[in-house]
Amino acid sequence: MNTASAAGAPPATYDRIGVGYRQVRVPDPRLAALVRQALGGARTVVNVGAGAGSYEPDDAEVTAVDPSRVMLDQHPGAVKVLAGAEHLPFPDGAFDAAMAVMTVHHWPDLHRGLAELRRVARRQVVFTWDPAHRPELWLLTDYLPEIRELENARFTALEEVAETLGAHTVLPFAVPHDFTDGFQVAHWRRPEMFLDPVVRRASSTFAQLSPAVVEPAMARLRADLASGAWHRRHADLLEQDSMDYGYRLLVADSSA
Ligand SMILES: C[S@@+](CC[C@H](N)C(=O)[O-])C[C@H]1O[C@@H](n2cnc3c(N)ncnc32)[C@H](O)[C@@H]1O
Repeated sequence: MNTASAAGAPPATYDRIGVGYRQVRVPDPRLAALVRQALGGARTVVNVGAGAGSYEPDDAEVTAVDPSRVMLDQHPGAVKVLAGAEHLPFPDGAFDAAMAVMTVHHWPDLHRGLAELRRVARRQVVFTWDPAHRPELWLLTDYLPEIRELENARFTALEEVAETLGAHTVLPFAVPHDFTDGFQVAHWRRPEMFLDPVVRRASSTFAQLSPAVVEPAMARLRADLASGAWHRRHADLLEQDSMDYGYRLLVADSSA
């Protein structure tokens, strides 16, 4: 394996929860197209918090960075660096673009990590979630309000992320009903998916909740699905093809 190691990498939660990530977190082509467009034809790209390599452009030279060896082991790329966003082992302006997809909420020092993205690349593309967005997913309002507290603790206000990054563009991404990348909200119109422990295991939020909290909630969901109560309550959702649950693509460019 072509993995270089950087000193000072933070402890890697995904070494514990990242096993089997690629099976459940299949990159979605619609989000991939948006990320690719935002990268603006960059020839060299550093993917920070790269995980298994989802959403990397196939026509650029990509350097994958992640503090989790378990995740980098699932990454098919040739150039992989074991490091956290807060200490990127590259010189200033080393890349045309830096990308960070569904990862900034894991960084112990968000501001430092974003400053590093700006230091090593001219353009930055960040995909994240706005914790202030409403409506919330029914999973939180009806079954697991504990998730709200967890998410509020780790997601920073979108305005602060955009301002720190110097973003010139904030694009909403409405999640399609058949979104393939199994992060939590992906199953907004497929409630039965949450009953599968393999699906739940791919979510870092579920990984933080104790079975004593999750299991009774899932038993209620199972009962509501069996009785038709869920479908009656959420009949309006079944009519929708995509839903805006607050996912946003931020783009910054120091040469713009
Ligand atoms: C939800 S996964 C996203 C992976 C990939 N970007 C994707 O879209 O599938 C979050 C990733 O962030 C990584 N991560 C955690 N702390 C980090 C840090 N301080 N710097 C960079 N990446 C970090 C995790 O190891 C994990 O691979």
